[in-house]
Amino acid sequence: MEPRDVRLYPDAEAVAEAAADYLIALASDALAHRDRFCLALSGGSTPKALYARLARPEEAGRVDWSRVHLFWGDERCVPPDHPESNYRMAWDVWLRHAAIPAENIHRVQGELPPPDAAADYERELRAFFVPESLPRFDLVILGMGEDGHTASLFPESPALHEHHQWVMAVETRQSVPWRVTLTPPAINAAAHVLFLVTGAAKAERLQEVLHGPHEPERLPAQIIQPTSGSLTWMVDAAAGSLLYFTSDTLP
Ligand code: 6PG
Repeated sequence: MEPRDVRLYPDAEAVAEAAADYLIALASDALAHRDRFCLALSGGSTPKALYARLARPEEAGRVDWSRVHLFWGDERCVPPDHPESNYRMAWDVWLRHAAIPAENIHRVQGELPPPDAAADYERELRAFFVPESLPRFDLVILGMGEDGHTASLFPESPALHEHHQWVMAVETRQSVPWRVTLTPPAINAAAHVLFLVTGAAKAERLQEVLHGPHEPERLPAQIIQPTSGSLTWMVDAAAGSLLYFTSDTLP
């Protein structure tokens, strides 16, 4: 197994600050050599602090956001103005203040019937990344649930075994049951994947995901193993309280 890049920070705000610096550095470097930077956002509550930091003028000025394209790793099947929408969370906290052109924001149309939303998003991704055989996101940001899920890849989900489609509609036991998610091959094709995990409630699961046996059916976050990209975990002390670090990986 590749040595893990697990970075420990004192608290959630320090994770957000480090993630913002990491994202900005990646985007600035990419845009110095290429015409666009493709970023897939996570939903949930953890990334809110990151998005709020990116909305700050002092951070916003560090990237040419007009050449950034935004996607989502997953979306709840609700309209874009619904309180549970991942798109709405990012819009309210960051995008409404950002200089990202509307045509560069590729949201999942959660207002459509789930199969249609998934098919539409897959079509949009395949048209955008043509002629690639997989979506080449420059960076995918992910969270992890207390059950070890990531994006909307939940334990025992059929999406864990998908090898061809880039996007799937999945029924879950969450408050909004239907969701659209990138599949493991679509995420694992990324150049960089960044997990953000904070809070004591995730400590036990995070320890299992990082140090326990490989059981992706039970711990879907383990299925995220970029084929040729980097995998980085940024965790706060509360979530990382059960982790151990070898001398060469001490933060
Ligand atoms: C979502 C996310 C999901 C999230 C985890 C962690 O749509 O909710 O994509 O995978 O990252 O559930 O959520 P929190 O950050 O709220 O703990």
